[in-house]
Amino acid sequence: MVKIGSFELNTDNILPAIAGFSDIGHRVLCYRYGAGLCVTEMVSAKGLVYGSENTCALLATDPREPIKAVQLFGGESEFIEKAIKLKVIDKFDIIDLNFGCPVPKIVKNGEGSALMREPDRLYAVVKAAVGAAGGRPVTAKMRIGFNKDEINASEIAKVIEQAGASAITVHGRTREQFYAGEVNHEVIADVKKAVSIPVFGNGDITDYESAVNMKNNTSVDGVAVARATVGRPYIFTELLNQVPEFSRTELIKEHFALLETVMPERVAVNCIKKHVASYTRGLRGGKDIKLKIFASTTKDDVMAIANEFKAYE
Ligand SMILES: Cc1cc2nc3c(=O)[nH]c(=O)nc-3n(C[C@H](O)[C@H](O)[C@H](O)COP(=O)(O)O)c2cc1C
Repeated sequence: MVKIGSFELNTDNILPAIAGFSDIGHRVLCYRYGAGLCVTEMVSAKGLVYGSENTCALLATDPREPIKAVQLFGGESEFIEKAIKLKVIDKFDIIDLNFGCPVPKIVKNGEGSALMREPDRLYAVVKAAVGAAGGRPVTAKMRIGFNKDEINASEIAKVIEQAGASAITVHGRTREQFYAGEVNHEVIADVKKAVSIPVFGNGDITDYESAVNMKNNTSVDGVAVARATVGRPYIFTELLNQVPEFSRTELIKEHFALLETVMPERVAVNCIKKHVASYTRGLRGGKDIKLKIFASTTKDDVMAIANEFKAYE
């Protein structure tokens, strides 16, 4: 199995950061079904340093997470360093850095995928993170380039490795592509050849076949699966070519209970809506449940909707 620093993963299939989705509940469920590593939603290094309160729930972890990994984003090495040294980051085993976020607000600030255009600054950020992490592994998440004329993933991967990082996840799209269009396996294969630290291939993996396809085409050490896990944390069992056993009713209830440990009821209800909507994917009558979940405001509403899934079990 893949090793990230001194951490040996239980499987080679990981859950990367997904803002709005890779919350404490989703991570615990993904681990349960066989994820080798799950990463928190992305958190602003600057926001952390300035003590913005709404990052609390994002940084919450559960003892059932065997490895705790936090994703930070930021373009200034001083803030990355200060953030990692904060007490709230102590509990994390792995620090993941975001060099892939395509959102205009983030890119304009010189953060996320903007750093792929500035290898020197990116190097400084990774180096600062490694220095501040006190021996804990630092990993990086990147894209294949900023746009189709600037495909520089191998070069950036080498910079990341030279700065001391322990693993890289590559989303096989450019920043310009956001989340649509073809995933470029060739460039991911080039990244794998360019560095000796573990590389995870990412983009459009939705089942066992697409995971095998990514591995065969690129020789990556493992795969990262994001969107296909939402409403389907048990996909991690499928990726091991096994048939998962699950009850959507129980998954939703457990997910909600985990959210409730770290946020007020109202916020937990809002947070679970997107997940519950995804659980309806492909189910006959799912549309009705979807409408109901988006109209719900209380825990009781969510529990009643969770019970409706019993009809499908
Ligand atoms: C709604 C959404 C939020 C995301 N948030 C993050 C994030 O916080 N950090 C990150 O590195 N990638 C983020 N990503 C990118 C995913 O981790 C992943 O690279 C991308 O979705 C492609 O993989 P997939 O096809 O398996 O979904 C996000 C993607 C989506 C759709």
